[in-house]
Amino acid sequence: MRILVLGGTTEASALAALLAGRSDFSPVLSMAGRTSDPRPLPIPTRIGGFGGVEGLALYLREERIEAVIDATHPFAAVMSRNAAQACANASVPLLALRRPAWRQQEGDRWIEVASMEEAVRALGDTPRRVFLTVGRLELPPFAAAPQHIYLVRTIEPIGDALPVPNVIAIRDRAPFGEAAERALMERERIDVVVTKNSGGAATYPKIAAARDLGLPVIVVARPKKPSGVEEVATAEAAFDWLERRHGRTP
Ligand SMILES: NC(=O)c1ccc[n+]([C@@H]2O[C@H](COP(=O)([O-])OP(=O)(O)OC[C@H]3O[C@@H](n4cnc5c(N)ncnc54)[C@H](OP(=O)(O)O)[C@@H]3O)[C@@H](O)[C@H]2O)c1
Repeated sequence: MRILVLGGTTEASALAALLAGRSDFSPVLSMAGRTSDPRPLPIPTRIGGFGGVEGLALYLREERIEAVIDATHPFAAVMSRNAAQACANASVPLLALRRPAWRQQEGDRWIEVASMEEAVRALGDTPRRVFLTVGRLELPPFAAAPQHIYLVRTIEPIGDALPVPNVIAIRDRAPFGEAAERALMERERIDVVVTKNSGGAATYPKIAAARDLGLPVIVVARPKKPSGVEEVATAEAAFDWLERRHGRTP
């Protein structure tokens, strides 16, 4: 069974590990190419965009893909929309693997906002020490608030994405530990954390550490993903779905 996994997430990598040992599955995992040195995976990979809906539909036909798993990040809205459209056009079954959003719990001091621009405004006029963990590509809007001191953590170098006077840039990649997150925030005397509501365990420790330290967290809500697509929350459930479909394939 030819399977396309749209990846770039922990869940996609977990599904790749489940698929790796199975000779009756022939999976390929696709990444956008945003990370220059992605972690090695145990199944074949391809890197780079498909060329929109048309390009993806063509790829599905040419590669005789029989099922697509959209395991992209909750904030990768364009790719998910394209996948829904291309799979419909090419009549290929599609399953979305989506980790649940984080929910505010006792002790959290969340400020929930709908966009990065709103997150910038929520920081206010008074200079603050901000732990900005939204990813390299989401940094530019924060240049509109140059009064703050930003501790920015990204996988790739930030280059000139945040042209403000005070930036401390660190490069690191999830998973992170709660004790280390807390130590980092204390050492850098962080006043406020800014994050996407990514969900999942790998980057949750910053939320737990902020709760522990009594710090406010500005949480950017997820963009809309296409409706009408069957959805599961774990790599195991996606694997079960594939097995069931495979059983039905003549
Ligand atoms: N956005 C985030 O916060 C975030 C965080 C962690 C990981 N990621 C991962 O990084 C990648 C890009 O995210 P994004 O937010 O930039 O996506 P996006 O805005 O939804 O997609 C923009 C374009 O990038 C290409 N693309 C995206 N995901 C792809 C994939 N898995 N394989 C091949 N092409 C892909 C597609 O180009 P074409 O139209 O040419 O096909 C798509 O139209 C995704 O794989 C996502 O899972 C994103």
